[in-house]
Amino acid sequence: MDNIFVTGGAGFIGSSFVRNAVKRDLKIINLDILNYAGNLKNLNDIEDKKNYVFIKGDICDEGLVESIFKKYKISIVVNFAAESHVDRSIMGSNGFIKTNILGTGILMDIARKYNIDRFLQISTDEVYGDLENELAERFTEKSQIYPSNPYAASKAGADMLVGSYYRTHKFPAIISRCSNNFGPYQFPEKFIPLIIYRALKNKSIPLYGDGLNIRDWIFVEDHVEALFSIIENGKIGEIYNIGSENEIRNIDILKMILKIMNKNESLIEYVKDRKGHDRRYGIDPSKIRKELNFESKHIFEIAIEKTIQWYKDNIKWAEECIDGSYRDYYNNNYKMKE
Ligand code: NAD
Ligand code: DAU
Repeated sequence: MDNIFVTGGAGFIGSSFVRNAVKRDLKIINLDILNYAGNLKNLNDIEDKKNYVFIKGDICDEGLVESIFKKYKISIVVNFAAESHVDRSIMGSNGFIKTNILGTGILMDIARKYNIDRFLQISTDEVYGDLENELAERFTEKSQIYPSNPYAASKAGADMLVGSYYRTHKFPAIISRCSNNFGPYQFPEKFIPLIIYRALKNKSIPLYGDGLNIRDWIFVEDHVEALFSIIENGKIGEIYNIGSENEIRNIDILKMILKIMNKNESLIEYVKDRKGHDRRYGIDPSKIRKELNFESKHIFEIAIEKTIQWYKDNIKWAEECIDGSYRDYYNNNYKMKE
């Protein structure tokens, strides 16, 4: 196989993918702008490997992207690069529109010229919007696209563009739509690492609204394994939902983590709800199970314990994430007591 061009490979899921790919002896070119969530420390263990190259830069930089295609024979593109946090997109959507939609278009335009074998667009279950209650049918690949927040809308826009390139240009694209990931190296603005980090510091933990919103959690390493099964056997032009059939209410996951960490529930602080807050996500993973024989391997409770342990062992990593600019963002957003 020729090189795999990964974008956003210094972020949470991208770095898990890159570590796994490098260990499989695949050749990886990783382009990442290193925004607040991109961190080269996430890739410390593989940075010297011969089959790995890192390039700092923007997927919207056409000259740079083209120079990478010219220099390396690329057969596969895996596009993780994105602005990924819903709360930030509610504060302003420009960066989301630029990277998530325009950036995807630029990558596809250049990739088209170089006859790649496949382009895997890493999308999200958020493009489907939400399920209104616990009885509603879960999302299938045929569910209507109906995003609720600017982040989700930007990802849906990118999906539409990818679909149009497949139809118009026979561009060899595949879209994956995964549910909520958790695991090591996740930036502690997202719910699970935020709970763990703040509990370790004995700080109050913000729970939005009534705390009864439901997310469908998958361990990041399972998501990455699913992506390899799509790269190896997925059909061009198809969409694959990825999930572990693991729906949990926010309040329950919060209490569960506090219990494992031996922390008091008095740390829970109900705060005002997220605007437009999606009620429930639930992925029906039948297609990827049936067609690609993919099944998540990790048991949720064990993966959560492993994740808690990782944050305990890497508290410095998490502290460095919480730099000055993040603290301002955080305090403005949540109006929390520190
Ligand atoms: P993340 O924010 O941790 O990582 C995103 C990475 O992209 C960062 O390293 C960042 O520096 C990089 N990046 C941002 N803009 C860029 C640009 N213009 N050019 C190059 N690099 C850029 O996000 P994540 O949680 O790892 O998500 C990765 C992808 O997976 C995203 O596309 C996201 O929509 C999707 N996804 C995430 C989840 C989840 O639960 N986290 C679930 C489903 C899908
Ligand atoms: O479903 C996939 C999506 O999951 C990805 O596409 C996104 O990139 C990723 O950020 C994630 O989006 P969510 O909005 O679901 O994740 P987040 O961790 O921000 O929030 C999870 C739930 O927890 C949600 O119902 C909001 C709630 N929450 C979140 C935070 C940060 C709180 O109650 N308190 C908080 O402090």
